[in-house]
Amino acid sequence: MKYNFPDDFIWGTSTSFFQIEDALHPSSFHDWKGLKGKDGTCLEHNIKHDHHITEDAALIASLGNSYRMSMDWSRLQSEPGAQFSISAVQHYRTLLGLLKDAGLHNMVVLHHFANPNWFSKLGGWLNPDSPALFCNYVKQMIDHFGDLVDLWNTINEPYVYAFFSNITGYFPPYSSARMDKFRRSLSNLASSHRAAYEMIKMHPVYSAAGAGFTKNATLFHPETIFSKPITALLNSLFIHNVNKLFSVGDFVAINYYGRVPFTWHPILEINSPGVLDKMGRQHDMVWEYFPQGLEDVLELFYKKYARPLIITEHGCCTLNDAFRKKSIFDHLDAINRASLKGVQVSGYYHWSTFDNYELHLGSTYPYGLIQIEPGTYKRILKPSALYYQEIIRQSKLYVNCKV
Ligand code: BGC
Repeated sequence: MKYNFPDDFIWGTSTSFFQIEDALHPSSFHDWKGLKGKDGTCLEHNIKHDHHITEDAALIASLGNSYRMSMDWSRLQSEPGAQFSISAVQHYRTLLGLLKDAGLHNMVVLHHFANPNWFSKLGGWLNPDSPALFCNYVKQMIDHFGDLVDLWNTINEPYVYAFFSNITGYFPPYSSARMDKFRRSLSNLASSHRAAYEMIKMHPVYSAAGAGFTKNATLFHPETIFSKPITALLNSLFIHNVNKLFSVGDFVAINYYGRVPFTWHPILEINSPGVLDKMGRQHDMVWEYFPQGLEDVLELFYKKYARPLIITEHGCCTLNDAFRKKSIFDHLDAINRASLKGVQVSGYYHWSTFDNYELHLGSTYPYGLIQIEPGTYKRILKPSALYYQEIIRQSKLYVNCKV
C-alpha cells in the first residue's frame, strides 16, 4: 500500500512541562506525590530540559514540523490573578522563538495535569471560581505568547485528570471513589475549555490560531460476558458521553496508547504483569498493543465531531526500541486506513520526545525517542528517532521504511 499523507500534515513530538523540567520552582506542583522521594523531598529531575533549551530545540526540530508542549503555570503566575513573571515569560519565549526560527509550528497545551500549589489550595478544579482563575492565566498566555503559537490545545485529557484525581486517587488531591467530585471538576474543566476557546477566537490580535481540547481515546474491551456491563459503562463515560462544551473547537485532538481488556478488572501490564502474555496479547510495559483501535477511534470521533482530528499523543512504553519502531509504523498505517475511509486526520505527535518522568509511575517508564544519559544529561537519539525522521522525510512513500 502507498501512504499518502498530505503535504501540510503535522508531524511532531509531544511533551508536558512537569515531566521534563527541573521540578524546583517555588509554588509549583511539589505536592505531587509522584515527584517526591521516600523522605518527601523533591526528586532530582532526570532531564533538566529547561537547562538545555538550545540543544533540545534543535533536536525537537529534527523530529517534525511541529512540537506540542506545555508551560509551568505556577512559574508564570505565582498567585491568583498575578501578572506573569517576566523571567518565566522570557524563558518560554526563548524556547518558542528557537522552535519558530527552526521553522516549526508550535502547539501549546494550556492545562496538562499539573496545577500551581496556590490553585490546589483554593480547591483546584472543584472550586467554582476555577474557570475564572484559569481564564486569567489564559488571557495572559495569549497576550504574551500569541505571536509564537500556531495551535492552542486547551485541556489535556480532562476525563483522565478528573478520574485520577477523584476516583482512583493517583493524582492530587488523591480523592478516591468520589463520583460527585469527578463530575464537578469535569464540569469546571469543560467550562474552562469553552471560555479559553472563546478568548482565543475573540483576541484582538492573535485570533488566527487554531484551538481544541484533547480527549483520551482508550477503549475498554470485555473479555467475558460478565465484564460487558462495566466496559459499556466505562466506554460510555470516557468515549461516548463527552460534555457538550468540549465539542467547541477548530479540531478535536486524541491521545491513543492501546486497548484495556477487562475480565473482573482492567488488565494493564503495569497492574497484572504477565497476564497479557498468558492471553497471547502483545503489549508494552503498560498497554495491550492494539493499533486497530486507533483506526476505530478515529472513525468514531470523526463521526461524532465532524471536524479535523489531530493525534496529540501516541507512543509506546518500552525498553525495546525495535518494538517502538514497529508501533510507529503500525499506528501510522492505522491512520492511513482511516484517512482512506474519509476521516480527516491533520497531524500526529509522537509521545514522547524524551524518556521522561511518567506521572505517578516515575522515571523508569520510557516513552521517548531520545534517551537521556544519567548523570551527564547527554541526549542520545534512539534508532526509533532516526526511523521517525526518515518517515517524515519520505512521508508520501514511507512504505519503504517498513521495519
Ligand atoms: C498523558 C501523558 C502521559 C502519557 C503516558 C497521557 O495520558 O497526557 O502525560 O505521560 O499518557 O501515560
